[in-house]
Amino acid sequence: EKAGYDHFMLKEIYEQPKAYRDTMLGRIADDNKSVFLKELTMTAEYIKSIRKVHIVACGTAYHAGLVGKSVIESLARIPAENDVASEYRYRSPIITPDTLVIVVSQSGETADTLAALREAKRSGARVLAITNVVGSSVAREADDVIVTWAGPEIAVASTKAYTSQLIAFYLFGLHLAGVLGTQEQSAVEELIAGLHQLPEQVESILEQSAVLKQVAESISHHKSLFFIGRGVDYAVAQEGSLKLKEISYIHSEAYAAGELKHGTLALIEEGIPVIALITQEALYEKTLSNIKEVKARGAHVLGIANAGFETEAAKSVDELFTIPKTLPLLTPALSVLPLQLISYYASLALGHDVDKPRNLAKSVTVE
Ligand code: M6R
Repeated sequence: EKAGYDHFMLKEIYEQPKAYRDTMLGRIADDNKSVFLKELTMTAEYIKSIRKVHIVACGTAYHAGLVGKSVIESLARIPAENDVASEYRYRSPIITPDTLVIVVSQSGETADTLAALREAKRSGARVLAITNVVGSSVAREADDVIVTWAGPEIAVASTKAYTSQLIAFYLFGLHLAGVLGTQEQSAVEELIAGLHQLPEQVESILEQSAVLKQVAESISHHKSLFFIGRGVDYAVAQEGSLKLKEISYIHSEAYAAGELKHGTLALIEEGIPVIALITQEALYEKTLSNIKEVKARGAHVLGIANAGFETEAAKSVDELFTIPKTLPLLTPALSVLPLQLISYYASLALGHDVDKPRNLAKSVTVE
């Protein structure tokens, strides 16, 4: 059932091009000019009434939501906030009827996420679920559902569910923009063209897994490392860090690149690996200056940059992994791939049970 792969995680990493295609299928108009999520029951009138969005989830799904916030804010210009589901109810969130609450859950059974959904409904908000399991509790109780068609995810570490959640956010953002008229038609078409290119671009990253295996093997000798980035790169850094901790048991922290000098820089010492995401053109110079700060303290930096910046970026880092060029907002759907593979190979190098890491369950049904 692992289809020739050594682990479910690796199989699921390689299934991502298909998961992207399946999640987009039937949701983009044939002329590639618009996105239409026919499954949504929310009306255009309702969409026009949304004043804020709360995105609530746990773990990796929470990290997908961090990207989702950027997607919704930039495409639909509606303010969005992120909450970890286990914190949401207890901070007396201000949920009003013009709040759209989006819960994100691969399994659709996570207790904290389900509890957050119920709290949102009690407060009179509409709830949209992004889930991978049709008929799950979250899917049944939400007002609207966008199913991610990633197929069953068996490995405890989430990979294809995360990236399909990103695709769901891109589609939903475009759906909102279509109703609200917040984007130029040319920008919509550019994003749709970008979405269509992603599966092949993912394939080209997967072809370079041998390089990432080497990186992972050298990382596996370290006790601790850092992931840094700005904007959506910071969101992806957090996901990369969680994935590595979860299956390799190596300590790591994800930091907004500009925040390091406010404390964490004290932990940078000779030889410590730093994985720097450098995919956002507008933030490029700033991130490079943060890389210089860690390099000056002896860090060994692996840069993950977009094709197009590689010549410049190469000068500032010790090693460079290049991902294909895409639109800034879409980069998380590519930049997370090398991080997934590094975690996988690090876990493998350390001889851990990749698919069933210690202390963890696939679905967390207790609060
Ligand atoms: O099924 P869910 O998406 O609600 O699960 C949420 C988290 O438990 C899950 O993403 C967890 O963080 C993963 N094991 C991370 O790889």
